[in-house]
Amino acid sequence: MEFRDLKTQYSRLKTDIDAAVGRVLSEAHFIQGKQVSELEEQLADYVGVKHCISCANGTDALTLALMSYGIGAGDAVFVPDFTYIATAGCASILGATPVFVDIDPQTFNIDADALERAVAQTLKETELTPKAVIPVDLFGLPANHAEAGQVAQKYHLLVVEDGAQGFGGTIGGKRACSFGDIAATSFFPAKPLGCYGDGGAIFTNDGEIAAKLNSLKRQGASPADKYDNREVGINSRLDTIQAAILQVKLKAFIEHELAAVNWVAERYSEYLGGCNEIILPTVPDTYGSAWAQYTIMLPDSKKRFEVQQTLKESGIPSMIYYPRGLHQQTVFSGSASGSFPNAAKAAECVLSLPMHPYMENADVRFVAESVLRCF
Ligand SMILES: Cc1ncc(COP(=O)(O)O)c(C=O)c1O
Repeated sequence: MEFRDLKTQYSRLKTDIDAAVGRVLSEAHFIQGKQVSELEEQLADYVGVKHCISCANGTDALTLALMSYGIGAGDAVFVPDFTYIATAGCASILGATPVFVDIDPQTFNIDADALERAVAQTLKETELTPKAVIPVDLFGLPANHAEAGQVAQKYHLLVVEDGAQGFGGTIGGKRACSFGDIAATSFFPAKPLGCYGDGGAIFTNDGEIAAKLNSLKRQGASPADKYDNREVGINSRLDTIQAAILQVKLKAFIEHELAAVNWVAERYSEYLGGCNEIILPTVPDTYGSAWAQYTIMLPDSKKRFEVQQTLKESGIPSMIYYPRGLHQQTVFSGSASGSFPNAAKAAECVLSLPMHPYMENADVRFVAESVLRCF
């Protein structure tokens, strides 16, 4: 069994993907071919924002978003403690300081009260200027952007939505990557919308920021003359081949894949729901998840090890996202302050089960039964 079955996905979409890639090869516009701008329009339209700026990966998308607002040395950027390293790394690489914030134990997303405490503590105890917060739509579920947004407003923080795992999620019908002042996503192959290599995108309603991003991702080139560089930027473009693949994948995502992962999640919750020692993923009312992961909480790390071993013996892959909070990462050890009990508990007890749009009922049942055998 595959954890995220990209081979089956390709076999179902093969005719269209092969044709789309073939067109790029014969047209030979490998950089900034027309598929890139077409895709940007399609993505902006789907998300419901004015501008989409594609780039080379999700990490660059976050970094460029912060760069476009001039975040740098002396600035504090608040990030949930329980997330992928890139959410914090994008701040560090620009000379800013990531400040870790505990999570809500139910949703695994940033906790607004903990955010407020972290901002207050930063103001009281450091020389840093609170500048931005990056709520993450972890495992496909949008963060509580309303509550985090209120804290951000109170302290004049820029809100950068990390929608790397969230593309396709919703709150009250509004789509992920449209929350906050600016949003970033990743098209890493295993993401809800993935390409066949690296890719990413930034979303904004601000025309000036969009223009700045289009320059920053091209070494700071001016729009009229690419050899007139007005500021220092980076080289971060989405390849035309990846854009062509994403056009086919976006269609499948909209037409059936997002519904399919929701169906798989419902089956898991149905089959596992009877066991009160397992905490199932929460999707609050009015929220929709893109199910980047289906992540359960087991009673403790010992039980998690037992479940993971049992699954392995049955040929079922599972993953621990994430085995440690950011404050426990070697690179940040010593610099992190604060306490993160919910993130620490999650790191000890979470387990992500196979999840993808092409999972059959029998597979979901087999995984669930194998988990239940441990109880
Ligand atoms: C929450 C989160 N943010 C950022 C990223 C970075 O994306 P990429 O791997 O495309 O650079 C990822 C990718 O795993 C992610 O999960």
